[in-house]
Amino acid sequence: MPDLHKRHFLKEADFTRDEWAYLLDLSAELKQAKRERREQQRMAGRNIALIFEKTSTRTRCSFEVAAHDQGAHCTYLDPAGSQLGHKESVADTAQVLGKIYDGIEYRGFGQERVETLARYAGVPVWNGLTNEWHPTQMLADQLTIREYLGRDLDQVSIAYVGDARYNMGNSILVSSALMGSDVRIVAPEEFQPAADVVLQARQLADGSGAQITITDDIAAGVKGADIICTDVWVSMGESKDAWVSRIAALRDYQVNSGLLGLTGNKFVKVMHCLPAYHDLDTTVGREVYEASGMDALEITDEVFQANADIIFDEAGNRMHTIKAVMVATLGD
Ligand code: CP
Ligand code: NVA
Repeated sequence: MPDLHKRHFLKEADFTRDEWAYLLDLSAELKQAKRERREQQRMAGRNIALIFEKTSTRTRCSFEVAAHDQGAHCTYLDPAGSQLGHKESVADTAQVLGKIYDGIEYRGFGQERVETLARYAGVPVWNGLTNEWHPTQMLADQLTIREYLGRDLDQVSIAYVGDARYNMGNSILVSSALMGSDVRIVAPEEFQPAADVVLQARQLADGSGAQITITDDIAAGVKGADIICTDVWVSMGESKDAWVSRIAALRDYQVNSGLLGLTGNKFVKVMHCLPAYHDLDTTVGREVYEASGMDALEITDEVFQANADIIFDEAGNRMHTIKAVMVATLGD
């Protein structure tokens, strides 16, 4: 059994396939133990700092509930409520929090910030999303895929459709490559992952047997896929002004019934890390509708509702997988 004690959790490529599989297995085990009311606390008395430089629903709640289930206590530092960034450097903050806390979660901007925290904190640091990577989301997605398809990840084909230059596109590509999946990135050329990310994925694929396709051809990219994934077209930290050009570039890549038809797989399932713009019940959704006339963006409401079971189970699995990361790196 891999020993991840005292390790950081910063990005997928820091882990071997066995280590990643162990985290998935541990997540499943902890999920079942909670369901059967026989969970044992392996983090009793630990203190956890949660730094959020960007907003969150799922990630914050998952860290808090997972820590509570395991006997640990959390302090939440909201996007405006600490000295980090404006009055105190990441390195200094890391050293301060490392004296007070046993583990630190960070959500924010550049990956270099969470890497700096890890360098200076002296305690495990967990990436709760950066511009470049969203590794806790990947564990949740892969656990969900295993649950729904009942197959190992090297027997699964997954197509990510949309803005693939950012955390979700990068992380799906690299985590799927690590685990030997058939992964397709389907996006216009300027929205495809950077060359160094693709190279990393190809190197991992050499070891895992993964198949990697990067294409702007929607029909070829989604053909035969078991899973279609997408994400918002404008991510946290980007300007609202990006919507107009983003819609123009990505509207053909909307996950709708036509796109699902191109898979040729009547059992295809759709996943979304959430939050999603599938209707007009959000402020942003309404504003964009008024400007563009689109009543759904990256995914239609029809497709979203038809896949609500898997999408919300995916969200619920954030908690079990984040718990596994904390238990593995910090637990008794
Ligand atoms: N998927 C995800 O990370 O959700 P939150 O932004 O709500 O944490
Ligand atoms: N790409 C999205 C993911 C949200 C979970 C963002 O960074 O806003």
